[in-house]
This record gives sequence, C-alpha cells and structure tokens, in this order.
Amino acid sequence: MTRHDLPQGMVRAPDRAGTTEGYMPGFGNDFETEALPGALPQGMNSPQKCNYGLYGEQLSGTAFTAHPPERTWTYRIRPSVKHSARYERIDLPYWKTAPHVPEGVTSLGQYRWDPVQAEGDLTWLTGMRTMTTAGDVNTQVGMASHVYLVTKSMVDEYFYSADSELLVVPQQGRLRFATELGVIDVAPQEIAILPRGLVYRVEVLDGPCRGFVCENYGQKFELPARGPIGANALANPRDFKAPVAAFEDREVASTLTIKWCGQFHETKIAQSPLDVVAWHGNYAPYKYDLKTYCPVGAILFDHPDPSIFTVLTAPSGVPGTANIDFVLFRDRWMVAENTFRPPWYHKNIMSELMGNIHGQYDAKLTGFVPGGMSLHNMMLPHGPDRDAFEGASNSNLGPHKLENTMSFMFETRFPQHLTEFAGKKAPLQDDYIDCWDSLEKKFDGTPGTK
Ligand SMILES: [Fe+2]
Repeated sequence: MTRHDLPQGMVRAPDRAGTTEGYMPGFGNDFETEALPGALPQGMNSPQKCNYGLYGEQLSGTAFTAHPPERTWTYRIRPSVKHSARYERIDLPYWKTAPHVPEGVTSLGQYRWDPVQAEGDLTWLTGMRTMTTAGDVNTQVGMASHVYLVTKSMVDEYFYSADSELLVVPQQGRLRFATELGVIDVAPQEIAILPRGLVYRVEVLDGPCRGFVCENYGQKFELPARGPIGANALANPRDFKAPVAAFEDREVASTLTIKWCGQFHETKIAQSPLDVVAWHGNYAPYKYDLKTYCPVGAILFDHPDPSIFTVLTAPSGVPGTANIDFVLFRDRWMVAENTFRPPWYHKNIMSELMGNIHGQYDAKLTGFVPGGMSLHNMMLPHGPDRDAFEGASNSNLGPHKLENTMSFMFETRFPQHLTEFAGKKAPLQDDYIDCWDSLEKKFDGTPGTK
C-alpha cells in the first residue's frame, strides 16, 4: 500500500524504516506509533496537558487486573464521550446474536451451502448474514458465524461491537478497515482481527466483497501453545501486522452504530471518530497473511487431528477446550505411508463450521465450492464422500502435493444453532447428506483388504 492510497485527509504515522506498508510486525506486542511528531507522551501515560491539545484515553480489552492486561493508550482530538450522544435502537434483521434458537429451524443435521450472493447495495452492517450462533453473549461465551456481502463503502458511518472480537476471512474482493488505531487492508487469503470496542468504518477497495466472520463473544484470540513442536512453525508471531497510527480531522455529520448485547443502536455525532493521532499498547487490530502459515503434519504414517492446523485459538475457562479454534487447511505435501490420507470419519464434541476460501478441499471432491460453507454440529458423524474415500483408498501413495486448496474451520466447544436465514433463505444443498449414500459395505466376513 502506498501513501496516496489513504482516505482523503487522513494523516498516518511514518512507516517502519525502509518500508511503506503501514504496519508494525508482531503478535500482541506493546506497540507505539504516532502520526504527528511528539504526539505520544514519553515516560508516562497521562500528562497534565498532552501535546497538540490532544486528550489521553485508555481502551481496556481485559479487566484492569488481568494478567497480562491488554489495553491501549490513545491520544486523540476528542475523547470518545464526544463521539457518543443519545442512542436510538435500530434493527439489522440478518445479524443475530446468541442465545438465538429460532422456531421451525433444525440445527441437528449435516449441512452445506452454496455461496451466498449479494442482492442490491450492501454495507458491512446491512450485508452481514448470520449463519449460526453458539453460547450466550450475556455471559461472554460462544460465537457466531456470518457471511458478509459488501458492495458499498460506509460513508460517514462508523461501527463498533461491544459484544465481540471479529475475525474476518475474505473470500472475494478487497476491504479496508479504517479504524481508530490505523488502517488495515485485506484481500482473500488474508485475515483481519478487530478487537471488541474498536471503532471503524469499512470501505470497498475492490468489490463486490464476500467473506466470512467469526464473532467471538469470549476471551480474545491468541496463538496456540505449540507444545513439543517448539518455538517455531504454525503461525509465527512476526507475520501478524498491526497498523501504524492514522487519524482524520473531519467535521461532518456522522452516524456511529454500536452492537451491544445483541442489540444495535445508533448515535449521531458531528465528526469522524477516527481521530487518534498517537497510541501505544497491546490492544489493537491486526492482519495476517494465511500464506505465511507453516503447516506441520504426518511425515511417516497416519493423519493427525486437525488441531495441528490451528492458526488462532480463543480459550474457554476449561484448558484445552477452546471457545473457538480457527483452523486452516492450506496447500501442503502429503507423504504418509500406508495411510488413508484425507480426514478420517469421526464424531466430535466440538461443532465445526467450515468455509472454502479457494480451490478444492481434500475430503470433498465436489459440492464444497469457494464461498460455500458446511456445518458438522456437535456429535454428528461426517467424513469423506464416497469418491474421496475410494480415491484415497486406492491411490498411489508417493509424495503428493495438495495444491489449489485453502479452507478453514471455526470450531467451538458449543453447539451451533442455525439462523432462519441459514435454514430457509441461504442456498442450502438439500442433497448434501446423499454424498455418503454410495459408500459400500465391503465387509463379507473374509480377511484381507477390500
Ligand atoms: Fe470434522
């Protein structure tokens, strides 16, 4: 990204030495960045008077006493209370929040959808289509999965979610998140994470845009413990990028929409709230290029659990049982000997929402197309379709590179409930369950492979 690409009037901090990309590397770092020289106080957070007449303000992403605390100090043209007036409830009928179990919709079943298509002009807010919800936003556990369909930029419109952290997985088109803490641009095969409470507007850089969102009501996403894998591989911290500070001093009638306990409210303000000139801290939005994910897998035999492909995990209160795991199935070498190489048949206490970003997934040779989704809910059996099973059971097991493939999974310890949109309006494949129909009984009581 070059400097002239910025929204008109926006002033951004200098880039890292020798780069023009506008991001700072590292996962969960304590960053500091200023768009005007000297805007960031040194050696203290709250001087009697801030430089440039800025207001100091803290944004806390954890309780003050959490260890480690996650918070960011901002130095802004106006404090956030000036970007907040009286609230008026509005309705965004397709954006649902748990607990939400609609009448007449059955969540028990194996489901798959063709890509959802955009109709008419849709913004980040009007184009959000909730597919599933899990847990309870009021107790800050669980998640929702959404498809976003965005054809139109937000103009003098801003948004934040008090309910959730949003993990954004673009599948088509390029989006810009102009946030209080800087600008993040994302394209397919990248992801963006937007923390709870962060104000932003979403612009279309290259549309129409479609993708997936995991709305995390619980603890923030973090890097999974690698255990015996050691200090490297999977998602490496340096490949995560937080934006440098960028602000606009724009006085124009604007609308800020807030998602709070599943309800949406508007407030009218007289200026852009993206007025943070400098900030420091460890609570910030970030992006990640999925193509930098370093997969680790079987190098002799058998197929490890898909947890080996975890990019980010949002812990629950019970160690090892995530509120959400974000799992990536990307191109990789398959070398295991005498092994059924695709995912095996299974039932799982976790419920698995998958989406296809690009190409073909190895356990489903047809039907699971880019932009499509599938749901294998808690304790429902699933696995390869007949052609994938027969192909993998009879193929030559030389080293083979899976190419042209990138799918992901939002996996949660909680059951996922379909919305009415997912069950009745989205392009559900009624015949998905038939993909296992033609699996044959091979057993005839005689020994030997069949
Ligand atoms: Fe599964």
